[in-house]
Amino acid sequence: MEGMKKNKKAIFITGGSRGIGEAIVKLLKKDYIIVAPTRKELNLLNNQSIENFVKKNRNKEIDIIINNAGINFPQWIEEMTDENIESTLQINLEAPIRLIRGLVGYMKKKKWGRIINMSSGFGIVARGKQVLYSATKHGINGVTKALALELAQYNILVNSVCPGFTATEMVLRNSPEKIKLLEKDIPLGRLSQPKEIAELVAFLISDKNTYITGATIVIDGGFTSR
Ligand SMILES: NC(=O)c1ccc[n+]([C@@H]2O[C@H](COP(=O)([O-])OP(=O)(O)OC[C@H]3O[C@@H](n4cnc5c(N)ncnc54)[C@H](OP(=O)(O)O)[C@@H]3O)[C@@H](O)[C@H]2O)c1
Repeated sequence: MEGMKKNKKAIFITGGSRGIGEAIVKLLKKDYIIVAPTRKELNLLNNQSIENFVKKNRNKEIDIIINNAGINFPQWIEEMTDENIESTLQINLEAPIRLIRGLVGYMKKKKWGRIINMSSGFGIVARGKQVLYSATKHGINGVTKALALELAQYNILVNSVCPGFTATEMVLRNSPEKIKLLEKDIPLGRLSQPKEIAELVAFLISDKNTYITGATIVIDGGFTSR
């Protein structure tokens, strides 16, 4: 990335290999430089991997950070494994904070930046078996709000995007019967497509967004309105 031609803004995105992240990369790759490390290059489970990545990329010209990678392994409270507790908190909450800390410098210097934290409808409401996921998604919305306040003086806009049930591996791993039940719970009666979430992200990171910051923007077919 060093010495790259800067007529295009550069996006750093996690979880660009599949699902919503892949749709974001596909939609934006024509108009932006995309930095989308594979898990081998950046393993969010491992703080040493994150800090190594940050060290290597600290001086790179990253204009936009999209913390998209996330995991959800629903378990009842008493069934919860230590591994699930640690990995969900780590990937969904700690990793985004560490990455922003390490990579925000260029945006501050340029006095222009956009940060998107991929949250969830479960960052607004909750369900049983969603203790860990809800904790991290409510938590990341807090990160968004506090950061929006800190970074407004640098013209860096920070927002959370809260998708409802979206047609990716995270949801499609459920049985067809379970997916039908989920769809019954969604006022629009269907899952969203990853591209629909990508279109919202595209607007929020663009120059067209001049005044939305600190917001948790729900895109869920009406799910959280019930
Ligand atoms: N799908 C939904 O219904 C839904 C709803 C609300 C919010 N969301 C949120 O949207 C975001 C994207 O979800 P998705 O449905 O697109 O997920 P997905 O299809 O399950 O993909 C998860 C992504 O995260 C990456 N990832 C997982 N563990 C990682 C690790 N240790 N290190 C680096 N990367 C890792 C995966 O990379 P690999 O390919 O290497 O595994 C993959 O790119 C998440 O934050 C999720 O919580 C999703």
